[in-house]
Amino acid sequence: MKLNIAVLPGDGIGPEIIGQALRVTEAICEKFGHELSYEYGVVGATAIDQVGNPYPDGTHELCMSSDAVLFGAIGDPKYDNNPSAKVRPEQGLLAMRKKLGLYANIRPVSTFPSLIHKSPLRADLVDGADFMCIRELTGGLYFGRPQGRSEDGDTAYDTCVYTREEVERILHLSYKYARMRRKKVTVVDKANVLCTSRLWRQVAQEIEKQYPDVETEYMFVDNAAMQIIQWPKRFDVLVTENLFGDILTDEASVITGSLGMLPSASIGIHTSVFEPIHGSYPQAAGKNIANPLATILSAALMFEYAFDLHEEGALIRQAVAASMDAGVVTEDIASKDGVKHSTSEVGDWIVDYVKK
Ligand code: IPM
Ligand code: MN
Repeated sequence: MKLNIAVLPGDGIGPEIIGQALRVTEAICEKFGHELSYEYGVVGATAIDQVGNPYPDGTHELCMSSDAVLFGAIGDPKYDNNPSAKVRPEQGLLAMRKKLGLYANIRPVSTFPSLIHKSPLRADLVDGADFMCIRELTGGLYFGRPQGRSEDGDTAYDTCVYTREEVERILHLSYKYARMRRKKVTVVDKANVLCTSRLWRQVAQEIEKQYPDVETEYMFVDNAAMQIIQWPKRFDVLVTENLFGDILTDEASVITGSLGMLPSASIGIHTSVFEPIHGSYPQAAGKNIANPLATILSAALMFEYAFDLHEEGALIRQAVAASMDAGVVTEDIASKDGVKHSTSEVGDWIVDYVKK
């Protein structure tokens, strides 16, 4: 098969973790006889510095003409405490999601046996947890207008907007995935307070009738935040709106032991994007210490979701699990007396494993 991918390293540790994911992708393609071609694009703070736009047209054209996008991370502290910055790196990520029509962000949460001791939760609670968060990605507070400040600057507002169509398509997608899993969907909202949530719930109550083989439950987001920690194994597919999904998936990552472990697939109308859920970790940039596994696991999702190549994805996952069993891991998941390996050493080990 011919794989034509766009590579967007972004900011901070982005280039280092993407570098390793790309090497693993190359090794897999070599092993399975696929032809890989890739091209780099700029995005985020790097793109602002170079061309003044966090998602330049050239990068968008590259994404549109590729079969998949492998994405690193975005964000630079020089923008974080500067409220007067007119353009921010994160706008690049949001523009990319919107322009590519990536309305669904799939974040699988599952545990690795050799990492369970790293979870702050009790081992018996997290061992075997395996669920999929489906976060709506192009609506809600992130994109609703009006958004802004009053003239005197003392009042600020964001608007949460959802249309029936947006809610319907993400729910249908969630049921589709639930049917491939344990056939349970948890719809997370705040319907006791928010009007948009009441629309979500109404639409979900209509749609659930089309999937009588799937169990549907409704949960308020505050309760869901608690239950994810208290009883993660009760979830199969959890679907929710943009901001709730952002928050709940950072929370869910602690189940696995590290934010550096969770991959994601953003899918929708145009080219799909595969990216770790963590940020650009600027304190570690250039130090070769960041955990590349979430990005390598995102490459596994790319093989599966963008190319329907399941053996390839499974081998990457197996290699990642084996690297952890062998103790070849970065400092965030190393055991107390274990050796801390560098980003590239972890990549080396996984590439060797894949080639074997
Ligand atoms: C994520 C990130 C982004 C988001 C930021 C960087 C804009 O936190 O992908 O989860 O909030 O969506
Ligand atoms: Mn986030």
